[in-house]
Amino acid sequence: MINAGVLTVSYIIATILFILALGGLSNQETARRGNWYGIIGMTIALVATVLGVVTQHYALLLGALVIGAAIGLLAARKVQMTQMPELVAILHSLVGIAAVTVGFANFMGSSGHLEGVEKTIHDIETYLGVLIGAVTFSGSVIAFGKLSGRIGGKPLTLPARHWFNLALLLAAIWFGYEFVQQSAAGDGLVPLMIMTGIALLFGIHMVMAIGGADMPVVVSMLNSYSGWAAAATGFMLGNDLLIVTGALVGSSGAILSYIMCRAMNRKFLAVIAGGFGTGGGTATAASDEDQGEIVEIGAEETAGLLETAKEVMIIPGYGMAVAQAQHVVNEITKKLRDKGVNVRFGIHPVAGRMPGHMNVLLAEANVPYDIVYEMDEINADFPDVDVSVVIGANDIVNPSALTDPDGPIGGMPVLECWKGKTTIVLKRSMATGYAGVQNPLFFLDNTRMLFGDAKDTLEAVFKEL
Ligand code: TAP
Repeated sequence: MINAGVLTVSYIIATILFILALGGLSNQETARRGNWYGIIGMTIALVATVLGVVTQHYALLLGALVIGAAIGLLAARKVQMTQMPELVAILHSLVGIAAVTVGFANFMGSSGHLEGVEKTIHDIETYLGVLIGAVTFSGSVIAFGKLSGRIGGKPLTLPARHWFNLALLLAAIWFGYEFVQQSAAGDGLVPLMIMTGIALLFGIHMVMAIGGADMPVVVSMLNSYSGWAAAATGFMLGNDLLIVTGALVGSSGAILSYIMCRAMNRKFLAVIAGGFGTGGGTATAASDEDQGEIVEIGAEETAGLLETAKEVMIIPGYGMAVAQAQHVVNEITKKLRDKGVNVRFGIHPVAGRMPGHMNVLLAEANVPYDIVYEMDEINADFPDVDVSVVIGANDIVNPSALTDPDGPIGGMPVLECWKGKTTIVLKRSMATGYAGVQNPLFFLDNTRMLFGDAKDTLEAVFKEL
C-alpha cells in the first residue's frame, strides 16, 4: 500500500503525462513520443490506484487485469489497419458499459453513509454516469456495426423522430426526478433501470439516424461521450484522476467532433439530429445514370506522365489502407523526388475511416512529414498541378459535393484535383465510395482510370519508373 500523499503525487504525474500525450498526438513528428507519455501515464495511474485505493479482493482484481490485458493484446495484434475504426468504436462501448455497471454497483453497494444534499448530489452523479454510459454503450455498438458493414449506412429516418428523441429526453428527466426522490427513501432501483433502457434506446436511435457520410462525426462524438462517461464515473467513485482523464478525453473528443463537422461543412446539431446521407457502409454498384465515357490508362503510361511532371499531388483514401499500398507509395515518392519532381500529399480530414487515418499510414511508411499537407493548405494549388494521383479515394474527391448541395455529401469541401492538368484514379472497379454516391470525376476529360488493387498497380508503376 502507498499513502495518500504518494497517491496524489502519482495522480498529478499521470495527469501531466496525459496532457503531454494529447499534445504529442496532435502532430505527426511527436506522435510516437505522445503515445509513450500516454502508456507511462496509464501505467502509473493503474499501479497507483491498485496500491493506493484498492484495499481488498486483490485476487479478483488481478484475474480481471490478466483477462482484460490478454483480450486487449490479442485484439490489438489481430486487428487489421482497416478494422481500427471498428475496434475504436467497440472499445468506446466498453467505457460506456463500465460506467453503467459501476453506477449500478455504486448505487446498490456503498453510498448508504451519505445523507441530505450530499446524497442528492451523489445520486445525480450516479444517474448521469449511468445515462451517459448507456448512450455511449449502445451508440458505440451500432457505430461498430455500421463501420464494419454489418449494419447498412442508410440513415433510419423514423417519422416524427425528433419528437421521439424529445419524448425520450423528457422521460429520462422525469425518471431522474423519481430516482432522486425514491433514493432518499432507500429505494430507486426501478427508475434507474427504466432510464437505462431509455438511454440504450436513445443511443441506438441516435446512431441509426446518422447517414454513412456523417460517420466521422459520430466516431469522434462517441469518443467524447466515452470521456464524459469516465468523468461521471470518477465523480461517483470520488476518484480525481478519473475525473480529469475523462474530462480530457471528453473535451478533446468534442474538439475533434467540431473539427470533423467543420471539415464536412455540417452543423453539429444537424448531424446529431440525423437524417443526413444515404446508403454507404460498403461499396455498392455504380448508379445506372449515364455519366459518359471513362478513359483507362496503364502502368507504363502512368509512369511516363509522372516522370515528365513537375508538380505531382498524391491523394490517398480508404483504398490505400485496404491495399496496404503506403510503402510502395513511399518508394515511388522517393524515386520521383530523386528525378526532381515536386511530390506532395493532399490529406482530406475525413479520408479513410478514422481521424488521421492517412497520416498514420504515411508515417508508418516513412513518408517525410513536410510534404504531407492538409486539404486547406493545398486546395488552391491544383491549377498548377500536372498530375494528381488518387489512390483508393472516392468521396473526398467527388465534385458533386460542390455541385449537388442536397446529395449525401452535399456541401462537404473536397480536394479539387480536377482543376489540375491530369488526374489518375486508382481503384478496382466503378463502385461508389462510403457515402454510396457516383463520382462524376471519373468521367471528366482530364481523368484517367487505372483499375486494379492499388498496391499491385503501384508496384507495376514503380517497376516502369
Ligand atoms: P471512400 O469514399 O470509401 O472510397 C474508397 C475507394 O477505395 C472505393 O471507391 C474503392 O473502390 C477503393 N478501394 C477499396 N479497396 C481498394 C484497393 N484494394 N485498391 C484500390 N482501390 C480500392 O474513401 P475516401 O475517399 O477515403 O472517403 C472516406 C469516406 O469514409 C467519406 O465518405 C467519409 O465520410 C467516410 N468515413 C470517414 C471516417 C473518418 S473519421 N475518416 C469515418 C467513417 C466514415 P473499388 O471498390 O472500386 O476499388
